[in-house]
Amino acid sequence: MIIDIINKKRLGKELSYKEIAYFFNAYLEGEIKDYQMSSLLMAICINGMTDEEVYALTKVFIDSGDILDFSSFCDVSVDKHSTGGIGDKTTLIIAPIVAACGVTVVKMSGRGLGYTGGTIDKLESIPGFRIDLTDEEIIKQVKDIGVVITGQTKNLAPMDKAIYALRDVTGTVSSIPLIASSIMSKKIASGADKILIDIKVGNGALLRTKKDAQKLSQLMKRIGEIYNREVRTIISDMNTPLGYNIGNSLEVLEAMEILQGKEKNNNLVDLCLELASEMVSMGKNISINDAYMEVVEVIKNGSAYNKFLELVKHQKGKIDKLSLAPYRKLMKSKHKGTIKGINALELGKLSVSIGAGRINKEDKIDYGVGIKLSKLVGEKVKKGEVLGVIYVNDRIKMPNTDDIFDIE
Ligand code: URA
Repeated sequence: MIIDIINKKRLGKELSYKEIAYFFNAYLEGEIKDYQMSSLLMAICINGMTDEEVYALTKVFIDSGDILDFSSFCDVSVDKHSTGGIGDKTTLIIAPIVAACGVTVVKMSGRGLGYTGGTIDKLESIPGFRIDLTDEEIIKQVKDIGVVITGQTKNLAPMDKAIYALRDVTGTVSSIPLIASSIMSKKIASGADKILIDIKVGNGALLRTKKDAQKLSQLMKRIGEIYNREVRTIISDMNTPLGYNIGNSLEVLEAMEILQGKEKNNNLVDLCLELASEMVSMGKNISINDAYMEVVEVIKNGSAYNKFLELVKHQKGKIDKLSLAPYRKLMKSKHKGTIKGINALELGKLSVSIGAGRINKEDKIDYGVGIKLSKLVGEKVKKGEVLGVIYVNDRIKMPNTDDIFDIE
């Protein structure tokens, strides 16, 4: 049976609901091994899935755990998910903004996948920050402050959690059907009424072409219709990293600066304003323009930043204890010119190589390491000028950074 199912998918045939449910449930129970599941995942990656198969897999993921329901104490809960990028700390910024605008945000986030960072890893860089809230604690915090960012609770789509970790280390992350079922199952099971998905495209993203991003967008909207959820999508660039900082503690620091209105004009700020406006528009049923005005106002009047501090405090984080790695390596320009590109993928690889991400499932993350860019795309630089600083914990040799900056 196990081998028949793998072979069927290898030959590009459609699996039934029964076959999908059997295979994935047996994996969770330990009857099917990592190598067998990896083989099926790779066959799915190569041959794709029909819509019916994707709906079946989404249902199997949802049914593997609890389904939360917040309808009794908030009118609408809005959730946002990104398909993952380099330097993508948007959740840390927009969740407090949207909550400060009066829209409830219950965000269950994940860990890094491939070279992309995960919100939960970033939050764990804040000493003490709890990412393992129980359903009861989530509900209490929603009532108290209107915003929660936590890890997937143990019993929320546990199947996705197990498969996600395996995909990360088996080269099976960038399959459209697998991404769609993974994201949508979590969003539906976590009780979100309205869902905003930020689909990233580019060399630092799971998807490389706009066409694939559009396919994923349509597929997630079709899943949303089946479960009666409003799904909006934004397709955003991930050839260039978002903002200046890559690495867990560094990204938390950058998020705090943006919430305090210190950074006004870069690709990260622009995307955060766009995502937050969409969420507020969905949550309050108002136009994007009206939502945008509210978003700008809560940053200006400090309530978004205060909401962030409130969130950290409620989840027992000690923001004053956030620390960075002690050693610095400088990336310098080899000639003068204008920065035409900053390669997100190469920065992602560099950040994983210094310990900011995982190579194997079991790897521990080094929260204080990372990269802080000094310049962004479009800026002019002189020969020898510092382009960025690498934060490391040991006196390592300067890594090769030749492929990161394109300067003409
Ligand atoms: N984020 C997820 O939650 N799942 C994926 O498969 C990709 C990004």
